[in-house]
Amino acid sequence: MKLSGPFRQIVTLDHLPLKGKLRDENLEIITNGGILTENGQILEVGNYDFIKQKFPQSEIDLVENQQIAIPAFVDAHTHICFGGGRANDFAMRNSGKSYLEIAESGGGIWSSVLHTRAASGGELTDGILKRVRFLLKQGITTIEIKSGYGLNVDEELKMLRAIKKAQTKTDATLVPTCLAAHLKPKDFEGSSQDYLNYIIEEILPKVKAEKLANRVDIFVEKSAFQQEESKEFLLKAKELGFQITVHADQFTSGSSRIAVEVGAKSADHLEASIDADIEFLANSETVAIALPGASLGLGEPFCPARKILDNGGILAIASDWNPGSAPMGQLVTQASILATYQKLSTAEVLAALTFRAAYALDLHDRGILAKGKKADFAIYETDNFQNILYNQGSLIPSKVYINGKSVL
Ligand code: NIG
Ligand code: FE
Repeated sequence: MKLSGPFRQIVTLDHLPLKGKLRDENLEIITNGGILTENGQILEVGNYDFIKQKFPQSEIDLVENQQIAIPAFVDAHTHICFGGGRANDFAMRNSGKSYLEIAESGGGIWSSVLHTRAASGGELTDGILKRVRFLLKQGITTIEIKSGYGLNVDEELKMLRAIKKAQTKTDATLVPTCLAAHLKPKDFEGSSQDYLNYIIEEILPKVKAEKLANRVDIFVEKSAFQQEESKEFLLKAKELGFQITVHADQFTSGSSRIAVEVGAKSADHLEASIDADIEFLANSETVAIALPGASLGLGEPFCPARKILDNGGILAIASDWNPGSAPMGQLVTQASILATYQKLSTAEVLAALTFRAAYALDLHDRGILAKGKKADFAIYETDNFQNILYNQGSLIPSKVYINGKSVL
């Protein structure tokens, strides 16, 4: 049993609704707080002196300089398993070159596919672990990671195995997702419908047999997979027992509706969602995941996060960290920027980075500091938790705890 504290403030994120808008006044803030942990879980959160008296035998993890504590963050959408980089895409795009011109000069998702296929499993694992450390330093301890740069049986399995291997080398929780339906690969002979059938028949059964992922994603877009074929694909994936998430409404609207109709855990991107899509999504249990990093990487509008919350939806915010559209990997910076443009309260942003993001991953044991939850939290040397978003990512945790142990 270990008591961490005393903290000037503990922001628990407890007692807040899963859906809809949040006011900062509703945040539970414990002053002179303590967090008691045992076997990776939280036994008690409350007044430091009270807990110390109640559990006199507990080991003391003395926190100096009046720091603050919040639940560790959850990044529910990343593509951090990849080879190579796409700096030239970024430069060309900023010079006014079109998507087509970039693809024709050897860029785009296909270029990451070629680099990822050229990398060994070990190299991919090393790359993942390097990026996981970068995210951990921002207080992120749960990280979803997609495949999707392999695009055939062997290469998709290589990516998912690399993620599985990385999981054995980090205390962070890695949540793998099969995104074989990212793009029809150039070397596949057949229609996109044929490729989707190939995923269902050849890739997903192996993913399942090896327990490499229990989530399936698809990029529904004019340039990738069309809405009707995507819906059929997702229903089949669901029948195979996979949870569903969708890259939806990034450039054209309509696919978030499909995500809701198939009972997806989340619909991600939503930069192009129209009001009717937002209302439909907000009335469901499907989490809307905003990816401001992709808006910043591409120079596209932000997801209409304010409208989603005002309509009663569940909003999460994730980094989308990938070599193409979102190369930054700074989730807190991105969430703070989204907040200034979309007018999101601090409570709404913190919820979107913690328990609401965890819900999108079907993880119900984290994102809140309360009795019985996983003891993942971050502490900051600052006198006010508002400074985390105010500093737009430049204030980083002094320590990050996973299962009650400091890992940084
Ligand atoms: O989420 N939109 C599709 N997929 C990624 C981009 C991947 C890439 O450009 O490599 C995204 O933005
Ligand atoms: Fe993505």
